[in-house]
Amino acid sequence: MLDRLYSADSGQQADLTQYFTDRAGAGTLNWRQLDHDAHQFLADKLVALDPDKALFCHRLCLALRATRVVEAGTSHGVSTLHLAQAVRLVSEAGGGDGVVIGIEYEPDKAAVPRRWPP
Ligand SMILES: C[S@@+](CC[C@H](N)C(=O)[O-])C[C@H]1O[C@@H](n2cnc3c(N)ncnc32)[C@H](O)[C@@H]1O
Repeated sequence: MLDRLYSADSGQQADLTQYFTDRAGAGTLNWRQLDHDAHQFLADKLVALDPDKALFCHRLCLALRATRVVEAGTSHGVSTLHLAQAVRLVSEAGGGDGVVIGIEYEPDKAAVPRRWPP
């Protein structure tokens, strides 16, 4: 599943680079507050955590022995999978339950991990 999600993410990188290069070049971007056009453009973009950053979150959860995680910005769930796998390892080792709560602003994105497993 991660391979598929990262593949979809990679397929969007050129469009992302082009969009933000164009907007920055035109001087119409406010990085502190993205406008409606930028939000619309990003509405179907995964913008997934890079593998090394996702792995860092995974390791951090293990180090903290986290069994309850709230994720702000789930997108299609790349980071959620990493968090859930770490929470599962910690929970199984401790003999208890664990939970990862994902929060996503864009309804179409939120629908993707709700359909798991594909
Ligand atoms: C960088 S992406 C997250 C990538 C995701 N964590 C992953 O690794 O696949 C940021 C996400 O946060 C969502 N977002 C932005 N503001 C939000 C908010 N206030 N509440 C929930 N989600 C939000 C965006 O729609 C976007 O999908």
